[in-house]
Amino acid sequence: MSTPHAARDIDTSKPHSARMYDYYLGGKDHFAVDKQAAETVAEAYPGIFTCARENRAFMHRATRVLATEYGIRQWLDIGTGIPTEPNLHQVAQSVVPEARVVYADNDPLVLKYAERLMRSTPQGRTTYIEADVNDPQSLADAPELTEVLDLSKPVALSLNALMHFVPDAQKPYEIVGRLLDMLPSGSALALSHCTPDFDPETWKKVTDIYNGAGTPVQFRSHDAVARFFDGLDLLEPGVTVGHRWRPDITPEFSHAEVSLWTGVGIKP
Ligand SMILES: C[S@@+](CC[C@H](N)C(=O)[O-])C[C@H]1O[C@@H](n2cnc3c(N)ncnc32)[C@H](O)[C@@H]1O
Repeated sequence: MSTPHAARDIDTSKPHSARMYDYYLGGKDHFAVDKQAAETVAEAYPGIFTCARENRAFMHRATRVLATEYGIRQWLDIGTGIPTEPNLHQVAQSVVPEARVVYADNDPLVLKYAERLMRSTPQGRTTYIEADVNDPQSLADAPELTEVLDLSKPVALSLNALMHFVPDAQKPYEIVGRLLDMLPSGSALALSHCTPDFDPETWKKVTDIYNGAGTPVQFRSHDAVARFFDGLDLLEPGVTVGHRWRPDITPEFSHAEVSLWTGVGIKP
């Protein structure tokens, strides 16, 4: 990978989840150390490539459904990842050109490419905040948040493939609760989350690889993922395997290959 900024503040001594995910998606924005760790994951769980692609496909569908059926015009996407086209704002603005999107991630490499996330339609607006989801207050205090989003109007909180990087010790349910508390009635939560439910043995190996590489993970069961939606009105079909959440066509993947719980809820 070549970026003039790469050497300054990006730690290439150990793999990072955003760059490993970039490798799963066939991107070019990762280093040898990320490729090596990602290939070790793929050896244990060859479904990881399908999982990553179906995760993106869920984000596309959830964004379109929220825009077309629930009138959502604003998104707060945390754990954005290295930009991969179409990015969330491109999906949203293809339906509603005036859509506004605030992106946030804690990986400096995502920040380096943030200008790709800023290519908004003239009618809409996007911005990027470098922030850690474990510190929701710093997000709430970031001036860019309210420069772009009107928090008196509904916002979709998008947490895709993020919360499995927040183990229970870091109080993930309280974090999501605090983020939702910032948003008014009619707001939404769209969330995807890897799960060991369909192949616990394989996911034990994947967990060990991430933890061993210095990235703590906690992949969760259906019930533990459903708990993120407590107090929300869950849209049909509920918390569902990724490729089965309102599919355009139903792909023939096995649940174990996808190993992703997905859901969308509306704040009453
Ligand atoms: C697997 S990628 C998912 C990217 C995108 N949301 C998607 O679903 O395609 C996970 C992203 O979460 C980010 N991330 C991990 N821990 C984070 C944290 N504590 N705060 C903010 N972002 C985090 C990583 O840097 C990475 O970009």
